[in-house]
Amino acid sequence: MAEAVSAAIRRAGNPGRSGHVLSIRSARDLFSARERLARLFGCEDSSRFVFTGNATEALNQAVKGVLRPGDHVVATSVEHNSVMRPLRRMEEGGVRVTIVPAGPDGVVDARDMVAAFRKGTRMVVMVHASNVSGALQPVGAVAAAARRQGILTLVDAAQTAGSVPIDIPSLSVDLLAAPGHKGLLGPQGTGFLYVREGVPIIPLTEGGTGSRSESDRQPEFFPDALESGTPNSVGIAGLSVSLAWILRKGVESIRRKEVALVSELLDGISGIHGVRFFGPPDPSARVSPVSFVVEGMDPSEVGWRLEKGAGILVRAGLHCSPNGHRTLGTFPTGTVRVSPGPFTTRKEVARFLTALRKIRNLPS
Ligand SMILES: Cc1ncc(COP(=O)(O)O)c(C=O)c1O
Repeated sequence: MAEAVSAAIRRAGNPGRSGHVLSIRSARDLFSARERLARLFGCEDSSRFVFTGNATEALNQAVKGVLRPGDHVVATSVEHNSVMRPLRRMEEGGVRVTIVPAGPDGVVDARDMVAAFRKGTRMVVMVHASNVSGALQPVGAVAAAARRQGILTLVDAAQTAGSVPIDIPSLSVDLLAAPGHKGLLGPQGTGFLYVREGVPIIPLTEGGTGSRSESDRQPEFFPDALESGTPNSVGIAGLSVSLAWILRKGVESIRRKEVALVSELLDGISGIHGVRFFGPPDPSARVSPVSFVVEGMDPSEVGWRLEKGAGILVRAGLHCSPNGHRTLGTFPTGTVRVSPGPFTTRKEVARFLTALRKIRNLPS
């Protein structure tokens, strides 16, 4: 991926802006990345995948581009701030917001989500898996019920894209956002929003698209309708290579590996007195981020000790999801979060558990 970015930056042409060789090469990179996204998520029409700078930009586009004053929206109590903050902004402009509480394991009940639908509900927003508890949410059941009632479903797949198989058409999802730099293994500064054909959405940014330049009106066809200005073609060239790797490897096989590592991690943590993890204990009901606390120690101190003592890098605190922590009862100090990925080994998980025992002054 890094080599692809490096090669692309040395020949960076502006895609779709010219007929010269560098511009065409760059446009090809974008096209191949888009095609690979479509294959990965089971879609035929790759033009419905709009590149963004990250998941936050994609979620803002979806929320602010669809909701209008008077609309009602339903979301879970475990949404990331990249959903909650745009929703709160829209609330100030007359959008009504219902937040459905998740259970103590961080999982929301599909029946509670559906029960919150009412006249005027325009959209349901759900994180596919919480970045705090790791809990997978019943997106399929909620989206199917929403579709039957003519309600749009927006899924925040930041923690699942590339690590949990997702078939967009069979999930009945209308909008799906993800970053390129997490499970899709791409560089930072990349992300995308999938928009189902027929979903009315207004662009947050308008401008040059390289197409229909004779008109001073934004094109309505995709992806140009939502892609204005010079894209991060260099980053997307890297993302394209990562997507090719994921497609070769298969998301199912990545998922199997992560579930096995998470299982070892949870078993190991459960055996350390004074350390407690959050979220579902069943590894198949969750994704790889595992949140935990060490009794009597601030999460940031645990993080510092893991780095200094064992060179293990974790994230401590609230993970941009205060509501997720309120749901788990870990607000305001938060948790420590460790996340095995497709390149993590069993040996590394064992090394992490040894470091954790050391922090608890237990023999390794
Ligand atoms: C669940 C969830 N949603 C959204 C985001 C925002 O992603 P990005 O930083 O790419 O905007 C994150 C990032 O941590 C996340 O975990």
